[in-house]
Amino acid sequence: MADTTISQHGQWSSRFVFILAATGSAVGLGNIWKFPYIVGENGGGAFVIVYLFCVIGIGIPIMMAETMLGRRGRHSPINTMEILTSEAKADPNWHYLGWMGVIAGFLILSYYSVIAGWALAYTGKAFFGSFFGESASGIATLYDNFIASPWQQIFWHTVFMTATMAIVVRGVESGLEKSARFFVPILFVLLILLVGYAMTKESYYFQGLHFLFNFDFSKLSGDSVLVAMGQAFFSLGLGMGAIMMYGAYLPKDISIAKTSMIIAGADTLVALLAGIAIFPLVFANGLTPADGPGLIFKTLPIAFGNMFGGWLVGILFFVLLFFAALTSAVSLIEPAVAWLVEAHKFDRYKACVWSGLLTWGLGVGVALSFNLWSGLKLFGHNLFGLVDYLTSNLMLPIGGFCIAVFAGWIMQQQHSESELAVSSPQFYQLWKFSVCYIAPSAVFLVFLHVVGVI
Ligand code: PFF
Repeated sequence: MADTTISQHGQWSSRFVFILAATGSAVGLGNIWKFPYIVGENGGGAFVIVYLFCVIGIGIPIMMAETMLGRRGRHSPINTMEILTSEAKADPNWHYLGWMGVIAGFLILSYYSVIAGWALAYTGKAFFGSFFGESASGIATLYDNFIASPWQQIFWHTVFMTATMAIVVRGVESGLEKSARFFVPILFVLLILLVGYAMTKESYYFQGLHFLFNFDFSKLSGDSVLVAMGQAFFSLGLGMGAIMMYGAYLPKDISIAKTSMIIAGADTLVALLAGIAIFPLVFANGLTPADGPGLIFKTLPIAFGNMFGGWLVGILFFVLLFFAALTSAVSLIEPAVAWLVEAHKFDRYKACVWSGLLTWGLGVGVALSFNLWSGLKLFGHNLFGLVDYLTSNLMLPIGGFCIAVFAGWIMQQQHSESELAVSSPQFYQLWKFSVCYIAPSAVFLVFLHVVGVI
């Protein structure tokens, strides 16, 4: 356990690489597609403040806890939780936490891959000038026709899943690490270029900033707080074992506290920059920020098709979205692949084929929920909405809650102390206080609200 120095799957070659890979996992569709539209739907600045509180007060402590559990266990989340449960002589049921993580990863990737497929398809549309000179209704028709076509949905989802598995099959050093080294820096450069472009829109740029940072708390509802917390979990990639898995590949001498703060900071910065890049374009073209999930695919292309330089900006934007999604997708499937290798003695190739096929199959269902199966409603949602709600608003917060409780209450203090190895005892106490009290009670209160008790 504590003395297991390296995972059987390999390890990151440096602290910098871990930061890149974990930032790649955190930065994804959640930052560029979801964050701006959720901010738009929840009225702007006040939501951003609540979100920042969730990241600092709940997200960072849980990220530290999850990474720490991973590094101590050095296995896939399922086996890590089994090892740590027996080390702590805790109730064996705790190992279901690892299972929930792997299942959440499957569920998220199944719809994640469909939306990432849209990014790929839209890169092509941007390149071939499909948005050029189009009116709002022309772009809406383009989008509606696209999502109405089962074959196009399935095709792009298949391309994306294939790209993801082609990276994962190469393993930790040659697959995950190399792709993070390549894609994450490019992603930052693309985003900065897009922000630079938004700045040229002057008054609209300031209107965008005002929308993002104007704290009008009257626009905030209790539900927005739940959404902010779910989004913090989703965006940081917490509560489902991805960061636990990446922690398992982390060399012993690297500080978990510092790296967690850097990763959470980078993730939040990207979400804010994405908002800063997008809203000025929305306002400059007289569009509305509260357009929901279609904001990126239905609203922005109108801007790309009608503004100076829109051809290039459109291509850069959708390539950015694709790269961001790819580095997250690999982290969603890695826990399942590692588990198949550990538990069933599969070689990595076979583990990738099985886990990839299963996720692909689920994803086909999600892709069809936009067209052939759109009438199929469960609890008022289509399959896409249901999987998104179930994972972002329920599974990830429940996973995060359990991770905090396990790290704070179940794991022996001497183990968490030696694993975190923070030089300041006060900082350790602060972390412990957060995982014992703040994070679990915040998640719990929000649940009480969801079920209508408060
Ligand atoms: N953080 C990713 C995003 O913002 O798109 C999604 C994600 C990755 C969620 C990894 C969960 C996870 F474990």
